Amino acid sequence: MISETRYDNMKYNHCGQSGLKLPAVSLGLWHNWGDNDSFEMATQMVLKAFNLGITHFDLANNYGPPPGAAERNFGRILKKQLGSYRDELIISSKAGYDMWSGPYGNWGSRKSLLASLDQSLKRIGIDYVDIFYHHRPDPETPLEETMMALDQAVKSGKALYVGVSRYSPLQTKKAASILKSQGTPFIIHQPRYNLFEREPENGLFETLTEERIGCIVFSPLAQGLLTAKYLSGIPADSRASKPGQFLTTDSITSEKLDIVKRLNQIALVRDQSLAQMSIQWVLRQEAVTSALIGASKPTQVEEIVRILDYPEFTQEELKQIDDIVPCLVET
Ligand SMILES: NC(=O)c1ccc[n+]([C@@H]2O[C@H](COP(=O)([O-])OP(=O)(O)OC[C@H]3O[C@@H](n4cnc5c(N)ncnc54)[C@H](OP(=O)(O)O)[C@@H]3O)[C@@H](O)[C@H]2O)c1
Repeated sequence: MISETRYDNMKYNHCGQSGLKLPAVSLGLWHNWGDNDSFEMATQMVLKAFNLGITHFDLANNYGPPPGAAERNFGRILKKQLGSYRDELIISSKAGYDMWSGPYGNWGSRKSLLASLDQSLKRIGIDYVDIFYHHRPDPETPLEETMMALDQAVKSGKALYVGVSRYSPLQTKKAASILKSQGTPFIIHQPRYNLFEREPENGLFETLTEERIGCIVFSPLAQGLLTAKYLSGIPADSRASKPGQFLTTDSITSEKLDIVKRLNQIALVRDQSLAQMSIQWVLRQEAVTSALIGASKPTQVEEIVRILDYPEFTQEELKQIDDIVPCLVET
């Protein structure tokens, strides 16, 4: 069932200087939409998100497992449940990581990007993506070639807007200059940003503001570490307990947990969960358009969206947080 009140509580922010608005919270399908995951749960999470005003769903060619499965499974959900809502959805995909065998299934050549986009459209079962990203910089392909492939994606009608992920401030500036010369709508950057990973404060946010490009930050919960869930062990249903190389039990060190504990104290005083505070914290940055979360249950999405009812941080709270996870840029 699609809720009639789905747009009542979400906040929508302009993505850079573009006309496109993105929800303050977006949902990514990197984990938990593969063929080994429950399709029923995956469906419930997408529907819960949409019913809470989350209009933006983020994919990539390689999300799974196996690679491609998340796009295929999202396509099934779209067809069965949300087919008539296509114009209310912002669907993104990416290419740039290892996807198929041989020299063309990876990185940033024109050959690779345009073939990958065609494959993604087929898997999702749509005619165009709203945003097509280059997933990571390619040191061996001229930036002009990669950018002209993004431009081609737009000119061919297969993408409405383009973006980049993991590009440095300088690479972003160069990309913007090439795409501006072509009139290509380069509207978004996707970096990792969270309380443990503040690198975008070191020039990227400034560049995006100068270039008037939007920003959607991925892993704002550091894959779940910036919640209270690991404070008393590794829960059986958590990402760290599942097989995979991205959040391992070894990476959950006592030093990190000590930081999480101290942050959790601030969240408790604010009368919110640490998950909520972590998301509110990334959204306090002027440059950030949307927080791109992941989820394993619909209730997690529900909990995060409630941040829109909480007061902003006081200067004192921000200072307490900076004392625990120091800011990279001296102000
Ligand atoms: N551009 C890139 O290179 C890149 C890289 C990585 C990700 N991304 C994008 O960013 C999206 C999000 O990444 P992410 O999954 O790492 O994001 P995240 O929001 O940092 O972590 C999501 C995980 O946190 C836990 N969680 C979420 N809400 C919670 C809550 N309310 N309470 C307790 N735990 C909660 C869940 O883990 P459990 O499973 O433990 O419940 C969930 O799977 C991806 O889906 C993808 O679209 C992009």
